[in-house]
Amino acid sequence: MLKLLIANWKAYPATEAEAVVLARATDYAGMIICPPHEFMREVGAVLKYAILGGQDYAPDLAERGARYAIIGHSNRRAQGDTDDIIAEKIALTAGDGLIPILCVGEMAKELAQGERERIIRQQVVTGISRLDAFPNTLLYIAYEPVWAISTTPGAREETPEDAADCIAYIKEVVMQRGYRGMVYYLYGGSVTALNARKFITHAQIDGLLVGEASVREKEIYIIWQEFQK
Ligand code: PGA
Repeated sequence: MLKLLIANWKAYPATEAEAVVLARATDYAGMIICPPHEFMREVGAVLKYAILGGQDYAPDLAERGARYAIIGHSNRRAQGDTDDIIAEKIALTAGDGLIPILCVGEMAKELAQGERERIIRQQVVTGISRLDAFPNTLLYIAYEPVWAISTTPGAREETPEDAADCIAYIKEVVMQRGYRGMVYYLYGGSVTALNARKFITHAQIDGLLVGEASVREKEIYIIWQEFQK
């Protein structure tokens, strides 16, 4: 199966000129590039092989040329996006004809308290709760444990085995919920050129959502090459 690679540039780069340089340098076939909203138009204009995505829902994403939108990223949750807001954004994204990428994942404290499954279940069940009106929507769900994301202080590396177990659990939740559309399951959280292969060779994992490493030209090239093997 062809696996999926998403580059989440987050707040990088600082200027439009740098964004265009990075887009030209990392324009790889099939990769989904999600630049900051303010650079989407310029980045979209230079991409020939990669596909444009947004980092959050916005009413003008389709008009800016995006085909995907990341929703429920831990940064947005930290800024106040509740599961209900996320559900609304997922529905709006689907309504605009874009493919939503729902991010879910527990915090370190929740993991330590044995709350992981409950948190993930709630994020998934509520997140997809308004998709019934869009039965044919393709959906991506990315498991991104907050404690493994590179920008979290003291971030720890997740193992592919544990990530795969969580993804298996998410699949179960989606099935129990009766969601009938096609769903791809991704992993994200400190993916690098060194560990990407271990994650994508796992049968449960359909692709990767890469943050920090996606803006390092050599590193994202090595990661992309892993997807071509
Ligand atoms: P990271 O981020 O690869 O920098 O850990 C992943 C994400 O935040 O989507």
